[in-house]
Amino acid sequence: MKVKAPRGTNDILPQDTAKWQYLENVAKNVFKRYNYKEIRTPIFEETGLFQRGIGEGTDIVEKEMYTFEDKGGRSITLRPEGTASVVRSFLENKIYGKAQPNKYFYLGQMFRYERPQSGRYRQFHQLGVEVLGGDSPAIDAEVILLGLEILRELGLEGLEVHLNSVGCPKCRESYKEKLIEYFKPYLEELCSDCQSRYERSPLRILDCKVDKDKNFLAEAPKIHEEICDECGDHFSEVKTFLDLLDIDYILNPKLVRGLDYYTRTAFEIIYKGLGAQDTIFGGGRYDGLAQEIGRRDVPGIGFAMGMERILLTLEEQGIELPIDESIDLFVITIGEEAQRSAFSYLHKLRRAGLKVEMDYLGRSVKGQMKAADRNNASYSIILGEDELQKGVATIRDMKIGDQVEVELKKLVEEMTDRIEN
Ligand code: HAM
Repeated sequence: MKVKAPRGTNDILPQDTAKWQYLENVAKNVFKRYNYKEIRTPIFEETGLFQRGIGEGTDIVEKEMYTFEDKGGRSITLRPEGTASVVRSFLENKIYGKAQPNKYFYLGQMFRYERPQSGRYRQFHQLGVEVLGGDSPAIDAEVILLGLEILRELGLEGLEVHLNSVGCPKCRESYKEKLIEYFKPYLEELCSDCQSRYERSPLRILDCKVDKDKNFLAEAPKIHEEICDECGDHFSEVKTFLDLLDIDYILNPKLVRGLDYYTRTAFEIIYKGLGAQDTIFGGGRYDGLAQEIGRRDVPGIGFAMGMERILLTLEEQGIELPIDESIDLFVITIGEEAQRSAFSYLHKLRRAGLKVEMDYLGRSVKGQMKAADRNNASYSIILGEDELQKGVATIRDMKIGDQVEVELKKLVEEMTDRIEN
């Protein structure tokens, strides 16, 4: 039997993990500067959390969840996203009773049963933030800026910020009615998915990939023109803060997002060069989610970024991350006795903090030289019977090629000096 990785999953091999780690470190540094603290929630949750949080009528809940019954008969789901879990944890741990706002970040695998293609997988990785306990429009602007900063520090360019306000449950209800009224004469022309969600979630028609070019869609009532005064004021404050930060954005009245919990600010950051899956990160405010999950009024906002999509964008833009996987030193030995003695030096050099490697497979000196090159060693040390007798080792600078002899008892000191300088 040939065993393969499940469809839509990827192995991340050592030649690529360095890129992932680099990306994670850039993000973690930005999170630190903005004072966001890491939260780690379970990879699986009770299914009801996502049904209530993300919404019964969404594609994620209807078609994409990995749901199973555990041995205790509970319905369990692998998390398709992080927001519902973070809010659940905030409520369960009664953090609403402490100082607000609370600013969180998370990194990790998410699972959605989608049709795999470039930038879309069944297991993928998100890095995200959630700010709970504050509804100031300054937080909305900060969250968008923070996401953009991560991408800017990686060197990415040409990103579009799409912005909208989806209002609150109050004003959205009357907007929904307006949309239902508006689409009524075009019902026959809508795709079958849109026909079935027409009554329940007419907003989703606005971002339908099938119907997007139909003329009547462009003329549909625009939500940001229909929202109530409070939502309107909040939205204009968000825009003022973004202007203050010199962030360009495109007002996109069709941006409604695929999860039901959003209120007010919604945004997506897009890189057109990615093709069909071109959203690098998306998010928004969800002031009613804590009420839905745990009957508490806690406003919240956040985003999540697809890490695979960041890496694809880096590739697309030809950006090489400054990754250094070279080692400091390769120990080359001649003869069995030298190999044994080298082994103890290897240990001492590593303990002193140097990145050191040797040959374990009895290769020839030439073969070991090649291995030193392959590992991008800055130096090699040659240790043979003669050297051992004399109590010395030969250090070779791999870049310039010159060689010097040092006393074995001074080897660790000499090498740390050289590497540090
Ligand atoms: P989302 O738009 O479903 O939002 O996903 C956010 C990002 O995750 C997408 O923009 C994309 O980069 C990445 N992504 C989603 N699905 C896949 C997939 N199948 N394969 C690869 N990448 C994918 C959320 O998940 C919300 N929880 C965001 C949020 C946080 N809103 C408020 N706080």
